[in-house]
Amino acid sequence: MSSDISGFRFSAKAARTATQPINFLVELALHDKDGKLISLAAGLVDEQTLPADEVRRLTGELLADEVLGRKALQYGTTAGLAELRETILDYVCNLDGVTSGELSLTPDNVIVASGSQQLLYIITDILVDPGDIVITEWPSYFVYTGALVSLGASVRAVEMDDEGMSTDTLKSTLEDLKRSGDLERVKIVYLCDYYQNPTGITLSQRRREELLAIVRSYSTGHRICILEDAAYRELSCEGPAPRSIKSYEHDNAQVVLAQTFSKPFSPGLKTGYAILPDEMVEPVLNQKGGHDFGSSNFAQHILLRAMRSGVYAEHVEILKRRYKAKRDATLKALEENLGDFEPERTSWTLPGGGLYVYLTLPERFDTGPEEDLFNAAMDEGVLYVPGEYCYGPDPRRKPERNHIRLTFGTVDEQAIGEGVARLARAVRRTADPGRRSIQSPSGLNVES
Ligand SMILES: Cc1ncc(COP(=O)(O)O)c(C=O)c1O
Repeated sequence: MSSDISGFRFSAKAARTATQPINFLVELALHDKDGKLISLAAGLVDEQTLPADEVRRLTGELLADEVLGRKALQYGTTAGLAELRETILDYVCNLDGVTSGELSLTPDNVIVASGSQQLLYIITDILVDPGDIVITEWPSYFVYTGALVSLGASVRAVEMDDEGMSTDTLKSTLEDLKRSGDLERVKIVYLCDYYQNPTGITLSQRRREELLAIVRSYSTGHRICILEDAAYRELSCEGPAPRSIKSYEHDNAQVVLAQTFSKPFSPGLKTGYAILPDEMVEPVLNQKGGHDFGSSNFAQHILLRAMRSGVYAEHVEILKRRYKAKRDATLKALEENLGDFEPERTSWTLPGGGLYVYLTLPERFDTGPEEDLFNAAMDEGVLYVPGEYCYGPDPRRKPERNHIRLTFGTVDEQAIGEGVARLARAVRRTADPGRRSIQSPSGLNVES
């Protein structure tokens, strides 16, 4: 073939779609040949807790049943296994302390997908044309904001405080958009409202109903979708999590509730689901038909057995205890290592569950991957996610650069303590470049 052949003419969408920033962090971790790097970056679940024995047993039982085993190895339907969708609806209603009838829901409102990410993407795809507006938290989940860029959406971000998205700012943002004649372009309000990725913050109970009322009051020309991403909902470590926003909506008009089996059970099964308004079911199924005409039927049969047998619920309880211990270890390590560091301008969130803590450093710090702090952290042997990745493309704002997302998902308590100590040394070295680190006999850096 001639070497001067011209290149492909990629679509505008392909050109807008960038590599996930986190890939670069995964690469760094993979190149850590001697295993000295502690990753407080990877948003993976705790490997030691993955339910290998349980899934082995459930798989054996499924395949021992000749008829059902073969059924599970056949293609399923685009919407997902009917019995699983029924079980999911009961499960979610139970979490919310309501009946499906009270929320005008039937199993037909549930769609199972290849992870909740697939549904976040498809729902956005069926609602948003390039130039349309999606309102998000500030900061937000970077895989979703990446999808927004890819789809050509324009972002309006709303600040958070320790009760989650500010409902006052949401209201004023919608009012401004109404005044400027842009309300008709607002299609979605997206929130990760439980133990948010990246901050760990949960939308307070009192703001949930209020947020729904605000969005409804601006849904005059068309319905604005509230996309409630509850991926971490089950991983609470301080008693029960609040009710979903969805549970306040009795007519199933405009809230989509997306959840997943990835965080509370196994990401390897890559199965998630969403509960949708009637009007959205067909357009979502039509898109999903073009993507894959149905997610792994086998994984769905395993998950159905896990849910029906109580294995799933038991596993969630194990995870809650495990992550609580690791969250506590993270907060303790932050207090011990950074508690006295410019306390007026250094802070971190106190998540009630999930996998993340968000660290804020004084504004002069730049946590970006090309900057001194990141290099100092690599030198000390710790990886983190720079906060700048978590700020979507809001034309009115600049990404904040003095934050760090830390995850306590993958590493154990000892490594968390050591990782935070290393990070604190990197912070102090960057604040005071005269301070050096030297190698201790163990091969770890210590301050001089
Ligand atoms: C906030 C949030 N939503 C959704 C997902 C998607 O998870 P999955 O597609 O595995 O269900 C993730 C995964 O990290 C996440 O952090």
